[in-house]
Order: sequence, then structure tokens, then C-alpha cells
Amino acid sequence: MIDLKHTQGFLHHLILEAGDITLNFRKKRDTLQVNNKAFRDYVTEADVATEKFIIEHILREFPDHSIYGEEAGKIAGNEYRWIIDPIDGTTSFMRGLPFYSISIALECSGTTILGAVLQPACNDLYEAVENGPATLNGSPIHVSQQDNLAECVLATGFACQPLEKGSPNLPFFNRVMPEIQDVRRLGSAAADCCYVASGCIEGHWELNLKLYDIAAGAFIVERAGGVVTDFSGGTSGLPGQFICTNGKIHESLREILNRPE
Ligand code: IPD
Ligand code: CA
Repeated sequence: MIDLKHTQGFLHHLILEAGDITLNFRKKRDTLQVNNKAFRDYVTEADVATEKFIIEHILREFPDHSIYGEEAGKIAGNEYRWIIDPIDGTTSFMRGLPFYSISIALECSGTTILGAVLQPACNDLYEAVENGPATLNGSPIHVSQQDNLAECVLATGFACQPLEKGSPNLPFFNRVMPEIQDVRRLGSAAADCCYVASGCIEGHWELNLKLYDIAAGAFIVERAGGVVTDFSGGTSGLPGQFICTNGKIHESLREILNRPE
């Protein structure tokens, strides 16, 4: 059994230190080593170095814990599992845009108990703990109370897909756009979740996300009073079909996403 308060403090310091690593790489982004993982899917030396730093520190503190990292993959351990995206929004990061995040969640036997998302370039740290509030830089945050879809701003994304699959989100985008105020495509699903949690936007939907993109962000949304489901309203389709909202518009958004073409 871990001491949750101690672990929360550990995560708080760890993610801030990891943020500084990304900011240093950001200063020399013109000479950054970049590799193509797949079509439109990039990994930079900053992703790899940041994740290495995070994993080394976690395993030094908790040698028995399991790890699932975007770049490192799975490291087997006990029922505690850290889910890490060292740079969510690598394309934005490579281009010097501020919309990238570090996302770290801790699960116990499959249930998330701790989450943190840092946007290093904005100095914004979102945190949540089991049975506690979600916070932004230490102050509690809450989802928006807007229930009129026509006045909602939503975020979405177009996850990297093989060329032949096209952009599976475009039909959904075309269906949602006329029904709402506006859409944002910021480039970090973890950040999108945090903007829902803090009430800046009312929701986010996306296809083909991976667990490390949203493990911490989805937990932060829920702790801020929001709702997270797949398109059917359940959870079995997560994270491949992902919707998080303020709760008030969840069913209306789901209905639009499920409309026949
Ligand atoms: C990506 C971001 C982006 C989303 C992509 C993700 P990455 O993560 O979350 O917003 O649209 O689907 O893959 O690859 O930059 O860590
Ligand atoms: Ca990601």
C-alpha cells in the first residue's frame, strides 16, 4: 500500500522537473533530433530523454511498480502502474507552439488514483487525486455549467493514422461543427481534457487515442465534475473513441456523434 499524499508530492516535483527538461530542449528546437515512428507520427530526442528521466525516478522511488510509457512501452511490476506521455503534442512542441503537455497517471489495479498534466510552456500544472478536487496550480477547478450546445466550444484532434485510412474524424467533425459555437484543435489531447476540467471549453472528442494520451486528463476531468465515455456512453470503447465533457452536454454531443451519415 502506498502513502497517497507522499506519492502526490513525489509526482508534483517529478513532473515539474520533467517540464524543465522539455523547456531546455525547446530552446534548441532547430537542431532537435527527430524520428518518424509512423505516418505523421514523430518522436524527438526530447520525448525520449524526458520519459527516461521520469521512469528512472519512478523506479528509484517505487522499484516494484509497473510502467506504461509512450516511448518505452510496458515494464512489468505490481498492481501500481504509472502511465506516461512525456510529450503529448509532439508536433506542437517541434514547432515551438506552447500546446504540449507532460501527462502522468497512477493506477492501482486498473483504477486511476492520481493524475498530473503539466503544460511547461504555460506554467500550468493540473493535478487530481482520488477523493480530492482537481486543481490548477493548487486552486480547485470545475467544469463549465453551460448546457446550450450552440454556445459551446469543443476541442477535437486528428490522431495519426496510416495514409490509406484517411481522417476518420472528418465525418464527425462535419456533424458537430454546425451545432456548436466553435472548435479548437490545439494538438494535445491531455491539454484538451484539462481545458474541459477547468471550464475553458465544454468538451473534447477524438478517435484512435491511446491510453497514455488521456489517462491523467480523463481522471482530472472526472475529479472536476465532468463525464468521460466512449461514443456509446460506456467505457469499453475507451480510449479509441473518446468523449469528455462538462456532463451537461454529454448526451447531446453523443447523439450528434452517433447520427447516421
Ligand atoms: C497526440 C496528441 C494530439 C492527438 C493525437 C495524439 P502525441 O499525441 O494528443 O492532440 O490528436 O492523436 O497522438 O503523439 O503528440 O504524443
Ligand atoms: Ca500523446
